[in-house]
Amino acid sequence: MSIQIVSESTENGAYRIGRSAIPVNRENDDNLFVPGPQFYLPAGDTLERISWAVSENLPVLLVGETGVGKTLAVRHLAHMTNNGFRRVNLNGMTTVDEFVGKLMINQQGTYWVNGILIEAMEAGDWLLIDEINACLPEIAFCLHSLLDDDRMIVLSEYDGRIVRPHPNFRLFASMNPHENRRYGGTKPLNEALLDRFPVTMQMEYLPFEVEVEVTMHQSGNTDQALVERMVRVANDVREAMKNEKIYSTFSTRRLTDWARMAAQFDPMEAAASTIFSKVNSFDAKVIEDIFDNHF
Ligand SMILES: Nc1ncnc2c1ncn2[C@@H]1O[C@H](COP(=O)(O)OP(=O)(O)O)[C@@H](O)[C@H]1O
Ligand SMILES: [Mg+2]
Repeated sequence: MSIQIVSESTENGAYRIGRSAIPVNRENDDNLFVPGPQFYLPAGDTLERISWAVSENLPVLLVGETGVGKTLAVRHLAHMTNNGFRRVNLNGMTTVDEFVGKLMINQQGTYWVNGILIEAMEAGDWLLIDEINACLPEIAFCLHSLLDDDRMIVLSEYDGRIVRPHPNFRLFASMNPHENRRYGGTKPLNEALLDRFPVTMQMEYLPFEVEVEVTMHQSGNTDQALVERMVRVANDVREAMKNEKIYSTFSTRRLTDWARMAAQFDPMEAAASTIFSKVNSFDAKVIEDIFDNHF
């Protein structure tokens, strides 16, 4: 199988990937929220489609297992286009006060403090909302109005002030597939909220060859034959998880941790500290069998 790595370029003030183009934001040279360079291999058309949504000013929902590269894709795009990138996790701990803002009181009276959303909207930065499926109902309600056609937030607690996003503001959200039993606490994303994301992308783990390359690059392990065996283990573990045999998955990050340590230790020894220490004893048994098939 040959993997298509899509070519990217930045010329004449625009970032181009496949059929999509986004102007490079030159107003942002002093913006500390602009990410630095990322090691990202644009495999498949994920980034091209996300870029298209950005150029059309459409919010994007990224759906995929932990570690498939949802955050990295958006961070990389923000770097390439010189846009500010912020993140918030709505795993139920983030309150509407932190997300939208709150009224505070001092001797002079009351004053308003912007939350993460309003900050990003006014600054014209990109905001990635992680675990959007776990958000509180008040927050979902507030996102509805932002995602509706009128694209605004009314700060009802604060004199009813209306906030409209800066033209460079973009909204991204991510979630794990909700049919998945492992992520306790997350509810299926409210249909009404889901419907308001005009572009929804399902993301999968990297293709074999690309994952080998990424793992070698990130871990510094140069033994390609060994890393290939490790990626095969990872893919079998993912398959077992998909078939509901185990609860644990196997991210590229975990693979990198393993490969880094296996540059110095025996692969099984390295796995003890980088893989088996992170899974329950039932899953460990199944994963051990998978190991035995490859090592
Ligand atoms: N296309 C890619 N190019 C390079 N590395 C990738 C790519 N996709 C995933 N990765 C690797 O996967 C890791 C996890 O990505 P991350 O964006 O944090 O996942 P998610 O947000 O989906 O949980 C990255 O740090 C990187 O090692
Ligand atoms: Mg992420």
